[in-house]
Amino acid sequence: PMPAPFTVPLPIPRVARPVSPGLYEVTQRVARVEILPGLRTEVWGYDGTFPGPTFELRRGEPATIRVRNELPVPTSTHLHGGVTPPDSDGYPTDLVVPAGGHSGHGGHAAHMTHPGEVHHEGAKDYRYPVGQRAATLWYHDHRMDYTAPAVWQGLAGFALVRDEEEDALPLPGGERELPLMICDRSFAADGSFRYPRTHEGHDSDYMEGVEGDVILVNGAPWPVHEVTATRHRLRLLNASNARRLRLRLAPGGGFTQIGSDSGLLAAPVRHDTLPMAPGERQDVVVDFSAYPVGSTVTLVNTLADGPAGNVMRFVVARRAKDDSAVPKTLSRPPERPVPVTTRSFDFRRTGQSWTVNGRVYRPGDLLARPRLGTAEVWRLTSDFHHPVHLHLAHFLVLARNGRPPAATDAGWKDTVDVRPYEVVDVLARFEGYRGRYMLHCHNLEHEDMAMMADFEVV
Ligand code: C2O
Ligand code: CU
Repeated sequence: PMPAPFTVPLPIPRVARPVSPGLYEVTQRVARVEILPGLRTEVWGYDGTFPGPTFELRRGEPATIRVRNELPVPTSTHLHGGVTPPDSDGYPTDLVVPAGGHSGHGGHAAHMTHPGEVHHEGAKDYRYPVGQRAATLWYHDHRMDYTAPAVWQGLAGFALVRDEEEDALPLPGGERELPLMICDRSFAADGSFRYPRTHEGHDSDYMEGVEGDVILVNGAPWPVHEVTATRHRLRLLNASNARRLRLRLAPGGGFTQIGSDSGLLAAPVRHDTLPMAPGERQDVVVDFSAYPVGSTVTLVNTLADGPAGNVMRFVVARRAKDDSAVPKTLSRPPERPVPVTTRSFDFRRTGQSWTVNGRVYRPGDLLARPRLGTAEVWRLTSDFHHPVHLHLAHFLVLARNGRPPAATDAGWKDTVDVRPYEVVDVLARFEGYRGRYMLHCHNLEHEDMAMMADFEVV
């Protein structure tokens, strides 16, 4: 049931409104939405939408998000990239269980319990101090063993942190600022999501992760969006379970990167292609005045052939006034700290398991105890593509195989694609809170196959 590419308009997720200052409420529920023209797809959505609503947060203004769970399964919500106290970080066994029990309803998986599991009945208040710099964050489900199918079913959305430093810049805004969540899905003939998994364990056919043949942007298949011939800011997110992207513009042109996972760069960097592993964000400006009015500009993924190689299309509709600019100096990111130690984390297949330092994760498995307020070099090694994500800590990519990192590794990040047999050194700062956090592979099938570890900030 594939729609013709570039016919469905690009949706922009609704911006969440607080119910009172600093308090938001969102309900996770089942909904039937039109993704493929003429068909209905059952999604698990925050407020029944996929993507969920966008939370617009401001540095220095704490926010509480009350997440209600009306799904047939437990959930745990993680704010990816958030500097969040541990009890609101979406630990995989810190669960919101549906009010009135959660077992076996609607033919979904019975819930396996884990030691130390915490149950919040019906709802939980996630508290976000929002002390961090402006950045493109996202939120998604993080339940132990079931993150991949839950995100596939729709549990993901944007959270944008803004601040004064960013407000002072003449960057494109309003309708010229587009959050773009890119992910792939497969569909059955009736329009339902197809996820190749039974309720106990992954099929070994999917050791490398699950990819879909339909590319969605903000939940729409290969959408089209009309733009004026002006600069636009694209907040790109690869929210795929396992698909890696290398984005390019056709017929040509480039991206001016202004921000990375964790906020604005010190200065813009120009790229022809943007590699993006699952979990990564790229904050870029594209100047559509470089293309003739009436022409189309297609965002393509050069890592895929056929339909999956297309992402979305922009139609340059008309000229318009453009007061925006990309200044040579964008921000003052935190300075590069001096590390106090080096630790190694090896992401590798061991038999039929994906492991970190040879271990299959169990909640509470601590691999490191960095000290609050310090920085450490974490050496990440790998046998395959593993996009490694750290909770809480932001990092700079120092080196790949002992050589300088790629230009697209610029800035403070929270996710880095560690490629097969690569050694990636990152410099992570442990700021904000003491307590238990995680690092893991953000290939969501690998995550569910327990390629995770805990660290405790002490
Ligand atoms: Cu986006 Cu621990 O994940
Ligand atoms: Cu992995």
